Amino acid sequence: MTPATLPLHTDSPEETERLGAALGTVLRPGDVLVLEGPLGAGKTCLVRGLVAGAGGDQAAVRSPTFVLHQPHQAAGLTVHHIDLYRLGPGASIEVLDLDTLLLDGAVVIEWGGYADLSGFDVSTVSIAGGDHGDNRRVLRFEQPAAARLVEAWASLSRAAAAP
Ligand SMILES: Nc1ncnc2c1ncn2[C@@H]1O[C@H](COP(=O)(O)OP(=O)(O)OP(=O)(O)O)[C@@H](O)[C@H]1O
Ligand SMILES: [Mg+2]
Repeated sequence: MTPATLPLHTDSPEETERLGAALGTVLRPGDVLVLEGPLGAGKTCLVRGLVAGAGGDQAAVRSPTFVLHQPHQAAGLTVHHIDLYRLGPGASIEVLDLDTLLLDGAVVIEWGGYADLSGFDVSTVSIAGGDHGDNRRVLRFEQPAAARLVEAWASLSRAAAAP
């Protein structure tokens, strides 16, 4: 396993936000980051961190159960928070026009597995845990595509492994 694919653990929502913030500092227009994991895994929590790290207002990040797409103005880019849960498997996302969003924005997608994203250079972070009501989460970079995100993850996993 390379450091870029090593699992990272968090034990609180704040820790997950901090991890997201570290990734958010390297988020750039054109990035597509899919967040996988069951209901309540902490995907939105990670998005809060991502938006903050990118220079946006994390307090504006909502769990968009009824909102498919929420743009957040950040520093030099827009972070587009998308949640496909409501659309379900086989979600059709043409209406979102990701190509246009990616011109000056990064796209972060919860439940991205519901849509066909094969035309995009997708990086995937999966979150597991919390099934028994505990706070431990295991985050894995399962499909590392964007080199900056890979490097950021690798340095986070090196820091986590340091004695
Ligand atoms: N280590 C942790 N990391 C993230 N969230 C945690 C952690 N420990 C506990 N939690 C709790 O788990 C919940 C995560 O909620 P969140 O809305 O981020 O999940 P989600 O994956 O976006 O769910 P959904 O699929 O419904 O959108 C929050 O209530 C949060 O307080
Ligand atoms: Mg969510």
